[in-house]
Amino acid sequence: MKVDGQEYRTIWMEGTTVFMIEQNLLPFEFKIHEASTYFETCFAITTMIVRGAGAIGAAAGFAMAQAFMHAPAEGYWDFVMQAKEEIEATRPTAYNLFYAVDKVFRAGKNSAEDAVKEAQLIAEEDARDSRLIGKFGAELFGDEVRILTHCNAGWLAFVNYGTALSPIYMANKEGKKVFVYVDETRPRNQGAKLTAWELKNEKIDHIIIPDNAGAYFMKRKLVDFVIVGADRIARNGDVANKIGTLEKAIVAKEYGIPFYVAAPTSTFDLNCHNGMDIELESRSEDEVLYQTGIDANGNMSKIRVASPGSHAENPAFDVTPAKFITGFITEKGIIKPFVQSIKKICKTE
Ligand code: MRU
Repeated sequence: MKVDGQEYRTIWMEGTTVFMIEQNLLPFEFKIHEASTYFETCFAITTMIVRGAGAIGAAAGFAMAQAFMHAPAEGYWDFVMQAKEEIEATRPTAYNLFYAVDKVFRAGKNSAEDAVKEAQLIAEEDARDSRLIGKFGAELFGDEVRILTHCNAGWLAFVNYGTALSPIYMANKEGKKVFVYVDETRPRNQGAKLTAWELKNEKIDHIIIPDNAGAYFMKRKLVDFVIVGADRIARNGDVANKIGTLEKAIVAKEYGIPFYVAAPTSTFDLNCHNGMDIELESRSEDEVLYQTGIDANGNMSKIRVASPGSHAENPAFDVTPAKFITGFITEKGIIKPFVQSIKKICKTE
């Protein structure tokens, strides 16, 4: 994606340093954050400087490679094993994190150089898969299409292109007329802040809607497709994604609107039999009780928006049962949410 005319990826590694777009500052400030150790990369994942399934996966792979590069000769494996544990503890739901750590760890058993090569390959594959998801997804659309999306499964959530937004970018490039309803995605507002920023950059018509307005627009037949991303997909097709996804899926089914999940096969976790096996992250109550934005003077500020003295619960993800899903848009094509199709597509060649 281009920002001010310059081509960027969300995250990349040069030498031993990981570079990433600082997502907590967007859309108000565009800044590149640097992490020079695995520990600093872990910090970037937990604080959501880098976020979104594919970008978290790339970050985790790079962090594992950094650990191999920095491990001291004495206590080499203790250092590497400790790093692996810490990276895996950063965020529990996104499967791409575990997928990447495992692959880089196995490559690193040969040499630190192999670990770096594997981490770079994972990032490359993420970008390639996202582009293919865009190609397959765009084939679903006619010349004019209105899509509702939740959270940010765009360019910022992956190394490049994104998943749920990739078909939108592709269709726009092909000259189709695309309009996007962007759920604000409380409490962190990834929709209102990140998806809206991406779409504006790409000059795609869109409007931000309150999280509780999806049914209003769907009932009035203003939405042709709902497309979301995924953080982890169980072998039976149940999908863990940003909190609020389940509600959109139920409403879409009620009004006969196709509900697609766009995700690379690296997000499918065949060890999870169904959604009950997926660990769902809970985050700080502060994300619900306070909001962050810029004030009239252009300064970042955090204000309390909930009644003082009340507490909040903040589940970050929910699970949408496979029965609500029309299909998965993957880098290998579009499949139905059935065990057999999932197993077939995830088979490693
Ligand atoms: O908590 P986040 O922002 O890392 O959540 C990830 C997401 O953006 C969504 O759940 C998304 O729809 C799937 S990951 C691209």
